[in-house]
Amino acid sequence: MISWDCGPAFPVSFTHRLQMPDFMPASKDLTIVMYRGAANRVVERFTVTDMVGKVCIVTGSNSGIGKETAAELAGMGATVVMVVRNRERGEAAMQEIIQRHPAAVLDLLIADLSIVSEIRRAAAEFKARYSRLDVLINNAGGVSSKRTLTPDGLEETFAINYIAPFLLTHELMDTLISSAPSRVIVVSSTAHTMGKVDLNDLQSENGFSSLRTYANAKLMSLMFTYELARRLRGTGVTVNALHPGLVASNFGKGSRIIRFFYRIARPFEISSRKGAETSVYLASSPEVEGMSGEYFYRCKPKKSSEASYDLGTQRSLWLATESILASIGIEIKEQTSSPVS
Ligand SMILES: NC(=O)c1ccc[n+]([C@@H]2O[C@H](COP(=O)([O-])OP(=O)(O)OC[C@H]3O[C@@H](n4cnc5c(N)ncnc54)[C@H](OP(=O)(O)O)[C@@H]3O)[C@@H](O)[C@H]2O)c1
Repeated sequence: MISWDCGPAFPVSFTHRLQMPDFMPASKDLTIVMYRGAANRVVERFTVTDMVGKVCIVTGSNSGIGKETAAELAGMGATVVMVVRNRERGEAAMQEIIQRHPAAVLDLLIADLSIVSEIRRAAAEFKARYSRLDVLINNAGGVSSKRTLTPDGLEETFAINYIAPFLLTHELMDTLISSAPSRVIVVSSTAHTMGKVDLNDLQSENGFSSLRTYANAKLMSLMFTYELARRLRGTGVTVNALHPGLVASNFGKGSRIIRFFYRIARPFEISSRKGAETSVYLASSPEVEGMSGEYFYRCKPKKSSEASYDLGTQRSLWLATESILASIGIEIKEQTSSPVS
């Protein structure tokens, strides 16, 4: 890492994001320190990481946190593959990112990630185009206003927030392992603290509520992160989850109750760009090199709910998920080691 201490003369008003300067050698990080006043008090310190040569996938990157994550990583020089379900929305987001970062290297993969065949097709298309994957960010998510089944017969909120990260990560695992050190990131939520994993009713058949089903799915995605981190020990692939904060995005656009909540919570919400910070940090920071099986908030590890650490439930959930996928004709190839505690 190169540290560039700008000294007291550096103007404190200069707080906008920096592009990697031309004089930086490839794959180096630049730390900027800013001072204020005669006492040279440090007011800001941040690291600009060079991601040139890295290939990143960001799912759900046409909107909100995902779009900002894709933009930041592209600004750092990464090749960013944006997985979106709607081509027009995806192309519009790409254009926006290119306006911000004219040198951005972006690609688009179209897939509805609530449908297992589309997840598998997206993974196969990715592998046909790229030979490496440095960072996979499972960001796409959402909440259904009523119990809706996907074409596979899965409950939709469960499918997009839990099955999609589980299956996409598995489909790309061989590439992640051969590209190690590589990183998997799961965008979970603090809503997981309200969730429960009922192994006899993973898909809310015995009663659906938007918020409860979403909270359950986010808890499952967190437990998947912990279980996968253990299974990936020794492979050089790390996996971490995060809560992005309460973010003013398009989240919950299909649910009147959730949109109403976000309207009244407006004063407490952060921008999508701010909400993307932890995803970008986990994708790029040298500080988290080798760290795995953690839950992050505001770029720092944080304890998640007690329930999320239950090893027995993590393992049972994994097996139950394999059974659900097997029932729709999908065999999970075990490329990871057997679970150890
Ligand atoms: N906003 C918050 O306060 C908050 C808090 C905690 C966690 N989160 C999590 O943060 C992540 C990003 O959400 P956001 O706040 O940025 O909301 P957002 O603006 O609604 O973005 C969600 C993204 O996911 C995509 N997506 C949803 N269903 C999909 C599907 N079936 N296939 C492919 N893509 C799909 C959306 O695509 P379309 O545009 O096509 O719908 C969109 O690009 C989600 O996982 C969410 O659960 C958000």
